[in-house]
Amino acid sequence: MNENQFDIRIENTSLYYGSASVFKQITHYFASKAVTSVIGPSGTGKSTLLRTFNRMNDRIEGFRATGDVWVGGQNIYEEDIDVYALRQSVGIVFQKPCVFPKSIYENVIFGIKRLQPERKKEFADLTEQALRKVSLWTEVKDRLNEPGLSLSQGQQQRLALARTLISKPDILLMDEPTSSLDPRSARAIEDLILSLKENHTIVLVTHNIGQAKRVSDETIFVCNGEICESGPAEKLLENPCCQETRDYLNQGR
Ligand SMILES: Nc1ncnc2c1ncn2[C@@H]1O[C@H](COP(=O)(O)OP(=O)(O)OP(=O)(O)O)[C@@H](O)[C@H]1O
Ligand SMILES: [Mg+2]
Repeated sequence: MNENQFDIRIENTSLYYGSASVFKQITHYFASKAVTSVIGPSGTGKSTLLRTFNRMNDRIEGFRATGDVWVGGQNIYEEDIDVYALRQSVGIVFQKPCVFPKSIYENVIFGIKRLQPERKKEFADLTEQALRKVSLWTEVKDRLNEPGLSLSQGQQQRLALARTLISKPDILLMDEPTSSLDPRSARAIEDLILSLKENHTIVLVTHNIGQAKRVSDETIFVCNGEICESGPAEKLLENPCCQETRDYLNQGR
């Protein structure tokens, strides 16, 4: 196996909040240019794991990671890592749309305005490209100066995604991105995930097993501080090996 073909690799990784461990010595290579869904009971550490990949947990007091976390060829918990550059190449989208009290346009350029101010002349074009990518352009092109918060929840989630995509991340982390959306908006995001996987490595946390089946190539099931089971999504979700996975999947039936 060629290790370099994986954008994200964790090896003997343990994650802690203070003295409490969330994961103990887990190892997994995430498939590149594919969607890996992460499923498992509430409180088992799915969000913690996702935030580990772009060091979003750094802000949480007491958080600690040991072992290796390789992202894009870098061991990202080494000291000399440029965390801002890392977060440009590893974008994250949360359950609740993250929209700032600014205009639609300012929301889209929020990150690049700070990190790439020299590209100011391109901002308008980049905004259009990003909004087209998330199928929001036609809905907002005549109201770019209106508040982002005036959009519907589904539109706000696509706006947040446009802001993430404008930085051209290689990796997209999505933490229950559709759980606060109506079914139609949720399907729009799922369609987007499917179209984005051609060029992005996507890790998706979801409690929606139907969604995991529809969009993911690989699935991992986490439970009791471990990755209990991983493999092709269809096989794992239809015919799991572990009793824990079976019990979890049967709860929803
Ligand atoms: N900021 C924090 N400080 C201390 N402990 C935390 C913090 N955030 C989460 N935890 C603990 O870490 C464990 C994993 O939490 P996490 O939010 O990653 O779970 P999850 O699998 O995403 O759950 P859910 O499905 O409900 O979103 C839980 O026991 C939680 O209480
Ligand atoms: Mg969570």
